[in-house]
Amino acid sequence: MASQASPANRASRAVASESVKDDLLGSFEGRVGNYKVDYASIEELEINLGRGSTAYVNKAMWNGTPVALKTFNEPGNVEFEREVLTLSGLSHPNVVSLLCYAMDKRKCSIVLELMEADLCNMMQKRMDNADTDDCPPFHIAEAVDIIHQIAEGMNYLHQKRIIHRDLKSLNVLITGLKTGQVRAKVADFGLCKTKERSITNSNLTPNTGTYRWMAPEVIQTRNKDGQINTPQCIDSLKYPFKIDLYSFAMVCCEILTGEVPFKDTGSPASVKAKVLKGDRPELPPHCPGELKALIELCWDKEPNVRPSFSVVCEKLKSIKSSLTRGELIM
Ligand SMILES: Nc1ncnc2c1ncn2[C@@H]1O[C@H](COP(=O)(O)OP(=O)(O)O)[C@@H](O)[C@H]1O
Ligand SMILES: [Mg+2]
Repeated sequence: MASQASPANRASRAVASESVKDDLLGSFEGRVGNYKVDYASIEELEINLGRGSTAYVNKAMWNGTPVALKTFNEPGNVEFEREVLTLSGLSHPNVVSLLCYAMDKRKCSIVLELMEADLCNMMQKRMDNADTDDCPPFHIAEAVDIIHQIAEGMNYLHQKRIIHRDLKSLNVLITGLKTGQVRAKVADFGLCKTKERSITNSNLTPNTGTYRWMAPEVIQTRNKDGQINTPQCIDSLKYPFKIDLYSFAMVCCEILTGEVPFKDTGSPASVKAKVLKGDRPELPPHCPGELKALIELCWDKEPNVRPSFSVVCEKLKSIKSSLTRGELIM
């Protein structure tokens, strides 16, 4: 018989759950506590840099340095902890840097190096300011350079056994616009997963990430009765790193066209149906043949056909040098 919890029981359970929370917090602070600062040391400015699904990002000053302050409106938010834990172990020119974090009873914040824009908004602005309609946001050499920088950041993550799971132009940050030396950095580690052990025993959750960038093997659909259909190639989840290569291919299309993947397809369900059927976005005529072939490999339906980021980086280096020598065939 189920027993009714007495007030004393409830109280002791509440204490127990508090101490579980404290333990988690303890292990979080034990691992990254040296990054913790007081909110008093941060001056938040009323300049909004962006707003994502989980947090808002404002400009701030920390120790006299302009920074980006990403705030979650609840303490101990899972995505906050995941992002701090992940970023604290990373250092790469194409991955955004963690400076410190702060938390109090109501909220928690990540202090990040300040970037000038996200790639999505930056491309939108460029296209709005262009003289002609239908103008891609970058010259091909600049496009390939940005694509290469993103691939280097992703290669570093995969070497660290981190799967990003939410790669898209909104999660790539840009700096150096004023100097003309554009630098791209991968950001937003709220959904990432670390795969330290077996990659065959996958615990990837279907439908995580944003649907326009989502690989077919993680798309989950429902039938007429609302029951979940098994993702088409559930077996393919034994290649969990390859979902980032599919998203990367979608980001390449965005960079080459300035448009989100499947921009003319409205609902999430119809985009997912198209992807599962094998449809892919169209690549523009100014895309060199070698780059087109590489992108097509990255979005292959079969995850094991998609190359690794180290192979992608090597190929992009060779495409870059052919472009410099004027040898590439469109
Ligand atoms: N370090 C930064 N510098 C400048 N802008 C940023 C920075 N970090 C995030 N942003 C802006 O805030 C937006 C949301 O941040 P993000 O980390 O992606 O949060 P979410 O997890 O809520 O999606 C980004 O798309 C970008 O426009
Ligand atoms: Mg984001």
